[in-house]
Amino acid sequence: MLSQSNSGGRTICQRCLRYIRSTQRYISHQETWTSTKIRKAFVDYFKETHDHQIIPSSSIIPVKDGGTYFTNAGMNQFKPIFLETVDPHSKMAGYKRVTNHQKCIRVGGKHNDLETVGKDLYHHTFFEMLGSWSFGDYFKEEACTMAMELLTKVYGLPVSRLYFTYFNGDAKLGLQPDLETKNIWQSLGIPQKRILPFYMEDNFWDMGKTGPCGPCTEIHYDHTGDGTGVHLVNRGSPRVVEIWNLVFMQYNRQEDSTLSNLCRQHVDTGMGLERMTAVLQNTESNYNTDLFSPIFEAISKETKMRPYKGLVGEDDTGGVDTAYRIVADHIRMSSISIADNLVPNRAGLGLTLRIVMSQCFQQAYKVLGMSQGSVSGLVDVVVDSLGDAYPELQKNNSKIRNITKETEKWYTSLVSSSETAFSRFVKRTASKREHKHISVEDMMNLHKGKYGSKVPLNIMQDIALKEGYSMEDVAFQEARIQEQHLVENTEIKNKLKLDKNMIVSLQQRGVPWTDDSFKYNYTSVEGKYEFLDDFNGIVLGLVDSRGFVDKIGPDVQSGIIVDKSIFYSEGGGQAADIGYIKTELGSFRVEDVQTFDGYVLHLGNVESGNLEMGETVSQVIDQEHRLGCMRNHTATHLLLAGIRKILDTNTEQAGSSIHKDSFSFDFTSHRKLEADHVSQIEDLVKASIQKNDPVKRERIPRDVALEMEAIVPLRDEIYPSHVYVLSIGNSVCTDDNLMSKELCGGTHVSKTGDIGDFYITSVIRANQATKRIYAVTGQSAEQVLKTGERAQELLQKIKSGINDRDKLDDLLECVEELNSMFGLVMPKTMRDQVYSELSPLSNRLSGMESERLAANAQQVINKEMQAQKNGSFVLCRSDLKKSKQVIKLFVISVKKSNIF
Ligand code: ALA
Repeated sequence: MLSQSNSGGRTICQRCLRYIRSTQRYISHQETWTSTKIRKAFVDYFKETHDHQIIPSSSIIPVKDGGTYFTNAGMNQFKPIFLETVDPHSKMAGYKRVTNHQKCIRVGGKHNDLETVGKDLYHHTFFEMLGSWSFGDYFKEEACTMAMELLTKVYGLPVSRLYFTYFNGDAKLGLQPDLETKNIWQSLGIPQKRILPFYMEDNFWDMGKTGPCGPCTEIHYDHTGDGTGVHLVNRGSPRVVEIWNLVFMQYNRQEDSTLSNLCRQHVDTGMGLERMTAVLQNTESNYNTDLFSPIFEAISKETKMRPYKGLVGEDDTGGVDTAYRIVADHIRMSSISIADNLVPNRAGLGLTLRIVMSQCFQQAYKVLGMSQGSVSGLVDVVVDSLGDAYPELQKNNSKIRNITKETEKWYTSLVSSSETAFSRFVKRTASKREHKHISVEDMMNLHKGKYGSKVPLNIMQDIALKEGYSMEDVAFQEARIQEQHLVENTEIKNKLKLDKNMIVSLQQRGVPWTDDSFKYNYTSVEGKYEFLDDFNGIVLGLVDSRGFVDKIGPDVQSGIIVDKSIFYSEGGGQAADIGYIKTELGSFRVEDVQTFDGYVLHLGNVESGNLEMGETVSQVIDQEHRLGCMRNHTATHLLLAGIRKILDTNTEQAGSSIHKDSFSFDFTSHRKLEADHVSQIEDLVKASIQKNDPVKRERIPRDVALEMEAIVPLRDEIYPSHVYVLSIGNSVCTDDNLMSKELCGGTHVSKTGDIGDFYITSVIRANQATKRIYAVTGQSAEQVLKTGERAQELLQKIKSGINDRDKLDDLLECVEELNSMFGLVMPKTMRDQVYSELSPLSNRLSGMESERLAANAQQVINKEMQAQKNGSFVLCRSDLKKSKQVIKLFVISVKKSNIF
């Protein structure tokens, strides 16, 4: 029975054959290889013929890496598997063979293509990586065989167009050449002349300075078609491009650059969709494919600019095609980022996004002649092209458009304030300058805002050019991005933490994950809560700035790992518990608690004595602090339910910060939050508190929870096998009743009545897309209410006495007190009412005061004039005494009114 067929010198199975036959129709009609089909064929091949599970793309903003870098490769989300730090109960722990198409951005960090984009035909800030992985399952031979089969049988590429590189070793690191891979390619029928050795720089892959890494074998495609491309492999030539990288993950690179072996060997492969699309659509340019041409068409329709011609370098007169590429690339990058909840702002990745968007607008307006607002029109084209692969684009279409439009407005006003600053700079420095030249110092001064407004570098360059100034050509832009990352990294590094290597070391020492389920062990009877107290644990790890230590003493920030903990570690917006960990001779004040891959680290300082490894400790939490956080956490759930009911059922939570006395809650909705909405939401939350609804926390299987209708899982959160679902209220939802069901691992009160009083204290716009509500509960709410009531009382006094001139001084004092109370926290509805009514009343009182002052002043003047007329200086002594003050008041009155 013939069950196998020949494939490049090897045999392939029936399943593969069937799959390959089903794709033959694409091969014979190459023009039908759309990017959508290429993407699908890749994941389907691995799924259908080699049992890989298809995993959705993770967010472009990695959840676990402190938000400092964009996801830059398909493997990012699987880092915990490579490092063996994955939660054994999580879905991910079960992954053996997976495949996906992943959104990647390479701006900032080790792989940074921002400055290259536009200048050539195959670099992008945003691109898609088609990936396949084996986690401790198959290795080199199978990986190469699959790659060969997919490229030649499914995509139909001839071997005569391909080159295969392998790692040629590194003497310094003691790494031998990877002859195994070389032999595998040979055994797959690849002629020796097509298998080429390269060194670390090209054939050893790592995602950054530290982390999982290993030798790789790359497959390059020769666009020359005549076999002359062999000298162009790894030379940065568009004629021969790398299309697929197969990494054999074997090592973990430590902080000191040395390599340690990973526990298991893995395969991590990544193919650039844009490059593969170019190959299969028979072009050398990624930009001449169906991924970009619709955007080019939309641009030229919008501007009447000549159509895109694909020119580069000097051939591209006026930089028109370069601008086309930059705009098309950047609008894809920004749309994808905004869909993943990033907004352009002043810090971290938000700043990077803003810089990318600014460059996009600059090219669009300056070179392509697009008008303000028209770049946001391109969002629809991006959503059309990528929306099926990444549904979050479709879901957030209008949000992306709105944010882009807003950012266009911001950019336009930035250009105009920069122009003003530049002309100020020119005027002020004209006498000192011999040539029309901007030095680095001038540039820094302009950039820092010395001339009124901060002038960004790219705008400065434009203005300088327009005004005929030369300037230092420094890669300032990139330096700024990197500087930003540096600042963020330092901040993260300064905090004591368990890094990946420390976690691996804990695991190698057999230290079990911290059992912190005891944080949930509390009871309540009629609003009185009892928490575990003096709870025992054993010290399994001690950390200070040097790393693991055997003993910790006073005066240094340190951390403790115990086997069992009652402390709540910061998470889900809720602040960490504070408290004490004590032994007979030592006392450690816990100021913060953080979890690192299952290990709970209690951070703080030894206050007396010292603590040693292996000791039994007793744990005490600050119960007031915890209860406050619980009240506020339950209130956030009610608040979200209220917002969904009153404002917008599609409201999404965008973050929260929950403390003992107050909380803030961020959400995204494009509906405007009016004052009426705020009071209605507040009333609903209060009504639910009044009803004393039950709050239930249940631990249920993840898959059951995710099927529940009311539950909106957070994107990219890897949920363990069992999750907590928090339900508030009875299952029947009425007009004056709130119900909530959310995935939440926080700690909560058992009855809504235990929240106590509740007030929304203010609402701000956290950034372009996100609104933030501040609120208080419990005793703080009572305090805040008192402040609001005092404000109302003062207002009332003013209102009732406004027509009584004798009360003027009293009323002015009331105004003064109210003005000084403006900075105090009070219920928002009260504040809005008091201060909106106060404004006209205060104007009226001030007018009355002016009149009175003017009248007094007039009296003094009259007396003086009379005295002068009489030829005597008989200005009464008493009046004289008063005169200084009266004249002062007179001057004020002249300023305040037009009486004189
Ligand atoms: N992680 C590898 C890369 O990004 C596959 O090239």
